[in-house]
Amino acid sequence: MSTSLIDLRSDTVTLPTERMREAMASAPLGDDSRDGDPTVRRLEALSAERTGKEAGLFVPSGTMANLLALLTHTGRGVEVLVSAGSHISRTEMGGVAGLASLFHRELPAPRGAIDLAALAEALSPGLAHNRLATGLVAIETSHNDAGGTVPSLEHLGAVQKLARERDVPVHIDGARLFNAAIALGVPASRVAAFGDSVGFCVSKGLSAPVGSVLCGSAAFIERARAFRRMVGGNLRQAGVVAAAGIVALEEMIERLAEDHRRATALASGLAALDPILSDPREVETNIVNVDLSRSNRMASEWAVALKARGILVGPTKPKRIRLLTHRHISDDDVERAVIAFREVHRGFAEGKPADAAS
Ligand SMILES: Cc1ncc(COP(=O)(O)O)c(C=O)c1O
Repeated sequence: MSTSLIDLRSDTVTLPTERMREAMASAPLGDDSRDGDPTVRRLEALSAERTGKEAGLFVPSGTMANLLALLTHTGRGVEVLVSAGSHISRTEMGGVAGLASLFHRELPAPRGAIDLAALAEALSPGLAHNRLATGLVAIETSHNDAGGTVPSLEHLGAVQKLARERDVPVHIDGARLFNAAIALGVPASRVAAFGDSVGFCVSKGLSAPVGSVLCGSAAFIERARAFRRMVGGNLRQAGVVAAAGIVALEEMIERLAEDHRRATALASGLAALDPILSDPREVETNIVNVDLSRSNRMASEWAVALKARGILVGPTKPKRIRLLTHRHISDDDVERAVIAFREVHRGFAEGKPADAAS
């Protein structure tokens, strides 16, 4: 049995593959903001093709893809409607207000899918005497905070219809768009079709070291390119990293299904310890939220005890841990993680301290 650390904190810990390193070493390069970097342009064209959009824009992060979508779709001072727990509202350091000068409103979103009645009620096409105009609806799939859940195509269609009726654009935060597409069994373009723009990351489960791509109409991307410069995201010989993104799109999508299978196995193992911890039927992609509400210990104490057993986990709430499977997590690792959880579970039940719970 391996004694190396098993890192379940995020799929962002994935390292580039050998093929990515080779592609990075030999990528044709240029000044992207002057003549265009040929490798960046290739990744942007490939991304547009995969998402069924006219154009793509390579950006350093998913956060910047979202920020540029906010800036490009809206004017200042309007409202953005997002799902409860969305990455835009919770984890992007207030860029929606601080940088884009927008107000955001979280709408209830059971399992990450915005409640349609709440959306219909909240959508406001124009400024009324006591109501802000809605500038954008931003949805997320897979939904990180909800546990990697994937709203159905029917749901996405209903969101798009409601927004279109009010002439409001839709942005899809698809940081894990390809996980969502694999879970739905459709090409990513089917999912992306429900948004006027979509951003996805090559730096997460797809294993590239850096980068996201924002996709949309040619006119939208031209404006987004200008905003990218404004926020300091202008790139030069970025083909050196975009090359890995191309390999990510060409070779790393299908294998995401393995991560999903292992996440379900992990959830099953935990459910066997205590059904409240996780429900494998609720795992749709590579994220497992572990519910510690019945534990006598905080998530941070679980993290310490698990780390002592070689398992790295991320507490996301006082009584919740989030686990992500990815390319570096094997079937054996899943077994080892479940064993560690079992030991900690037992240790805490016996009143042992976190650093000695077994
Ligand atoms: C749903 C979602 N959107 C956006 C992001 C931001 O990506 P980045 O970390 O590349 O800024 C993340 C990162 O985890 C995410 O999960």
